[in-house]
Amino acid sequence: MASCSGTVRGAEIPTTVAADGDAAFQNSGPLVLDLGCGNGVFLAGLAALRPDWNVLGIERKDYRVRQARRRAGDLNNARIAHGEVTEVLSDLPLSSIARVYLLFSDPWPKRRHAVRRLVQPEFAALLGTRLRPDGIFSFASDSPEYAEWAEDVFRADGWQISAWELPPDWPPTEFEQRFVSAGVQIRRFQAKR
Ligand SMILES: C[S@@+](CC[C@H](N)C(=O)[O-])C[C@H]1O[C@@H](n2cnc3c(N)ncnc32)[C@H](O)[C@@H]1O
Repeated sequence: MASCSGTVRGAEIPTTVAADGDAAFQNSGPLVLDLGCGNGVFLAGLAALRPDWNVLGIERKDYRVRQARRRAGDLNNARIAHGEVTEVLSDLPLSSIARVYLLFSDPWPKRRHAVRRLVQPEFAALLGTRLRPDGIFSFASDSPEYAEWAEDVFRADGWQISAWELPPDWPPTEFEQRFVSAGVQIRRFQAKR
């Protein structure tokens, strides 16, 4: 990996991006994050659906970064940062992000493994500093336990929780497609400061 930097809305956004990546976006639209973007199915679908948004995926697994970059192809409003979510988030400027999606994040279902979940009090606090005041965090999971945990963490940090209604044309994620095919119920919520 190599470090390179780019700009969004004139602000420097240093990100940890593989050497073949370039974090610079071509337009001045709002910055939208897909945390743990996996193979980029949702990221590419969202970037195509909302050409006025700049969609930055963050993913730590090499092969998934490669898949996501291939899938994002020529979309000039999609980028994938290769690294840890909290590290890349920390590198972004304060109040720079309009929307953040955390979709089907690893649920770590055993109670003793819950500390490995991405959503923790420190995560909610960090996100609160990087989201714009009108920013929205959106969460979906196949795990009711993780969804309840995440809601509790955000509520305890002072966020307002509400239902997240999906627009009809909303792109599904890879994991969502699997869960829906298997008849698994999906839990979703939104959180605002
Ligand atoms: C269960 S998959 C879901 C992928 C995608 N969001 C979807 O719904 O299809 C979780 C993804 O998040 C990535 N991931 C988990 N923790 C991460 C972290 N701390 N930083 C970056 N990526 C992470 C994993 O490598 C994996 O690709």
